[in-house]
Amino acid sequence: MVQLTLPKNSRVTDGKVWPKPENQDHLKEFRIYRYDPDTGANPRTDTYFVDLGDCGPMVLDAIIWIKNNVDPTLTFRRSCREGICGSCAMNIDGANTLACTKAMSDIKGTIKIYPLPHLPVVKDLVPDLTRFYAQHASIEPWLKTDTAMPEKEWRQSREDREKLDGLYECILCACCSTSCPSYWWNGERYLGPAVLLQAYRWLIDSRDEATGERLDDLEDPFRLYRCHTIMNCAQTCPKGLNPAKAIAEVKKLMVTRQV
Ligand code: SF4
Ligand code: SF4
Ligand code: FES
Repeated sequence: MVQLTLPKNSRVTDGKVWPKPENQDHLKEFRIYRYDPDTGANPRTDTYFVDLGDCGPMVLDAIIWIKNNVDPTLTFRRSCREGICGSCAMNIDGANTLACTKAMSDIKGTIKIYPLPHLPVVKDLVPDLTRFYAQHASIEPWLKTDTAMPEKEWRQSREDREKLDGLYECILCACCSTSCPSYWWNGERYLGPAVLLQAYRWLIDSRDEATGERLDDLEDPFRLYRCHTIMNCAQTCPKGLNPAKAIAEVKKLMVTRQV
């Protein structure tokens, strides 16, 4: 019989229940993933109670409240607090999203928070995005041209500019890639929805002159063709984008260039 061994530290245990604040009328319960790889201890979920009368409406407000008032060791990323930087991406109530744009009132009962799934954890809610950023760099996300530099800017018609709508808004939060089963299992080689959406953004930019080279780079059974149209990516994107559609458009470009 095959014997499977769970990797070290794979069990999440029940952690500390932190004391309730004095105002017991407007409390919201949170269960938050805690893990510090340096300690060698298993990950755990700590329970916190947030005084809603003293806190803003978003999940990020509550996490900041916990850090300021209860447990200064709780670790997470955030910057803009308005859905622009992408750094507060985490798994809230079972879905990847931005803590700063997720309202607590949308979630019934205890709010459960984990880091983005299937990535190594640096600490608590901070995932290691090294590979994700390297994959983004690999598609060379900048304008590539052979034509001599114009005197002023590279011009673009209004219609061509509109082709970038639904793409340029991506904030590279990684919510989509870390919700994609294909990326979970083949993340070493499959570029994943966020990076492929970015690849398409440069492929259809009318000013870019490296389309053939970009398509050659994606013509690979793993880099592009691991998308099985499961659509988790479009469902989870906090900016309402559709990476699966962008991936389908890249595949279409692959076919049309062979005709
Ligand atoms: S497509 Fe959406 S979910 Fe994916 S990285 Fe961009 S903004 Fe985040
Ligand atoms: S549609 Fe493709 S990229 Fe999106 S979640 Fe599914 S397999 Fe991943
Ligand atoms: S803090 Fe910038 S997107 Fe949430």
